[in-house]
Amino acid sequence: MMIAIPDVLDAATLAQVRGIIDPAPWIDGNATSGHQSALAKRNLQLAEGSDAARAAGNIILDALGRNPLFIAAALPLKVYPPLFNSYGDGQGFDTHVDSAVRILSGSDFRIRSDLSATLFLEEPDAYDGGELTIEGTFGTQQVKLPAGHMIVYPASSLHHVTPVTRGRRIASFFWIQSMVRSEADRSALFALDSSVQALGATLGQDNADVIRLTGVYHNLLRRWAEM
Ligand code: NI
Repeated sequence: MMIAIPDVLDAATLAQVRGIIDPAPWIDGNATSGHQSALAKRNLQLAEGSDAARAAGNIILDALGRNPLFIAAALPLKVYPPLFNSYGDGQGFDTHVDSAVRILSGSDFRIRSDLSATLFLEEPDAYDGGELTIEGTFGTQQVKLPAGHMIVYPASSLHHVTPVTRGRRIASFFWIQSMVRSEADRSALFALDSSVQALGATLGQDNADVIRLTGVYHNLLRRWAEM
């Protein structure tokens, strides 16, 4: 399941994040790459664990915690501290797959990457190229969203970032370990939850069938959630 989540950051919060990361020191993006992706990646990144990455990342984590669509779709158990990248003219990231397990250096935090997320931090008309291109079962999707919007997609997907040909593409990216490991189960829960919310809005939250379907949702989540 690939889902776009609009307005993760409002304009004021976006400006706050950019105010922290723009003046911070950016380093060669290969600092965080595995062996395979190091060959394919050409970009800049904020040093993982730097003051700026941590401060801006915490703002994003707070925003995610308040976003009902993100929570319903991802059913997050753990979110990797957000990282930040910047692609200038001619920079891109060739086809690769994200590592299955990420370990935060200097800590015992580790995460199984079920979902990958890119939160766009620059307006699409400020740069050319830089499309996040994701290969899925239904073909290839090119994603370039307004600043403050986020795409969440299966971390198992092959993907790449097309070279930027004008301007600078700035984004945050991170991984999510879901309480529900199976993509199929998670998608079914999200579809059920979305329909129950819609039915509740039309029929009323006290409708007997809405209550029963809400129970089915929670009983399935109880069966499938690992934590
Ligand atoms: Ni990637």
